[in-house]
Amino acid sequence: MAGFSRVLVGLQYGDEGKARVLDRIVDDSDVVARFNGGPNAGHSLEVKGRKIALHQVPSGIFHPQMALYVGSGCVLNPVKLVSEIREIESLGVSLENRLHLSGNATLIQPHHVLADKIKGQAIGTTGNGIGPAYADLALRMEGERLKTLRFGDGLAGFSWGLDMAKENLKDLVREHKICGVEISREISRFGAALRRLEKYLCADPLFLEKQVQQGKIVLFEGAQSTQLDLVYGTYPYVTSSRTISAAAYTGGDLSLRHHKEILGVAKAIMSRVGNGPFVSEFGGKRSEQYCAEGKGLAHTKEKEQQEYDPKKLLASEDWFELGIALRMLGKEYGATTKRPRRVGMLDLVLLRQGCQMNAVDKLYINKFDELAIFRRTCLPGIPLVAAYRRDGKEIDYLPSAVVDLEKIQPVVEYLPHVPSLSSCRSRESLPGPAWEIIKFIEEKVGVPIYGIGVGPERNQFVEVKE
Ligand code: IMP
Repeated sequence: MAGFSRVLVGLQYGDEGKARVLDRIVDDSDVVARFNGGPNAGHSLEVKGRKIALHQVPSGIFHPQMALYVGSGCVLNPVKLVSEIREIESLGVSLENRLHLSGNATLIQPHHVLADKIKGQAIGTTGNGIGPAYADLALRMEGERLKTLRFGDGLAGFSWGLDMAKENLKDLVREHKICGVEISREISRFGAALRRLEKYLCADPLFLEKQVQQGKIVLFEGAQSTQLDLVYGTYPYVTSSRTISAAAYTGGDLSLRHHKEILGVAKAIMSRVGNGPFVSEFGGKRSEQYCAEGKGLAHTKEKEQQEYDPKKLLASEDWFELGIALRMLGKEYGATTKRPRRVGMLDLVLLRQGCQMNAVDKLYINKFDELAIFRRTCLPGIPLVAAYRRDGKEIDYLPSAVVDLEKIQPVVEYLPHVPSLSSCRSRESLPGPAWEIIKFIEEKVGVPIYGIGVGPERNQFVEVKE
């Protein structure tokens, strides 16, 4: 009998805690597969005291029987991937015969990373070369020269591939008059890493299809999130790949016939890292500018800890200060870049739209316990965005143009405060006000909530559905 596939996606601006939900549902899967993005993703995994930050390798590494597949929709940085694999193996975890990298995945060449660092600042990219790599993929050739190297092509035509990567790097250095780039060294590091990855090459585009036909269960793991989708998100302040659930089947190399269900992950206090519209942000534009200062590194975790006392800021009537306190208490700093994340109220307009776009069947909400922090503020209850207002009229969708989004006024509703939830482990132990919030969200969003995170530990999770 054929197996099936399910897709897990983030519903906001990333960092919703997809990995911890995946960790809870992954056990019956045979393959965990990535379908988009590359080293811009970052999540920490901790199992039995073994801890690691993953960027390009799919989660599921600690389940020895599980295969890990990186699809053709992904971009790969060979140098970074080799060091990530080394780190994983230093924990005693073998990836031999488990990790399969699609030969059609695009390689991030040295010039892509450099170009992103020079050109990606207005968007606030992670500087990993993601945009330039996807852009060159779409460009294909420039004059007579190929711009893109896919993983399989790079291995098959190793020496011309490296020559091409070298020419691409030389051009960029010349065009931007960049000093100090050791071109030959960069290219030989790139080539050496590429060779080391050869044993993981999956040249068969039907690899996953065949797995499922043999009865295997595939779990697609989305990276970045709905509002960062290249086309659907808050363009141009987005990533360069398609992140919504439908993309799992194009970037993940499986036919749609095997699809079973979609799991969506959100968090109760939202965050966004990098620039772009964020309707429910505490402190609005001021917060966006503050978080972007010094290329996002002027207010790191350490610096904010030295400068502020979150308990005092919580009492402030200024929502910008409240935002700083929530970031500090929620430890909202980038896993990949260390930048402070902008924080905001749970936006139910955005969440409903995300659930519909992704066809979410089951909703999971992390950081639910953090809603209890609002008891310590001067707010009359827990603030949630229930609708949007534009030019005096209420609207129930996110306008697609960024200029329109910036004119939106959030309509805030307050729900009764909740006591601490961090020791809750079962649905029976959840207090009445927590159920009130769950019901309110389900009604507004139209999707059942299956689980809530009530703290950072693995067991701090409540299965809401019986
Ligand atoms: P890029 O993906 O590096 O090109 O960055 C584009 C935008 O997406 C920037 O605002 C990044 O901060 C954001 N971004 C990319 N990857 C992630 C992620 O894994 N979590 C949260 N934001 C991300």
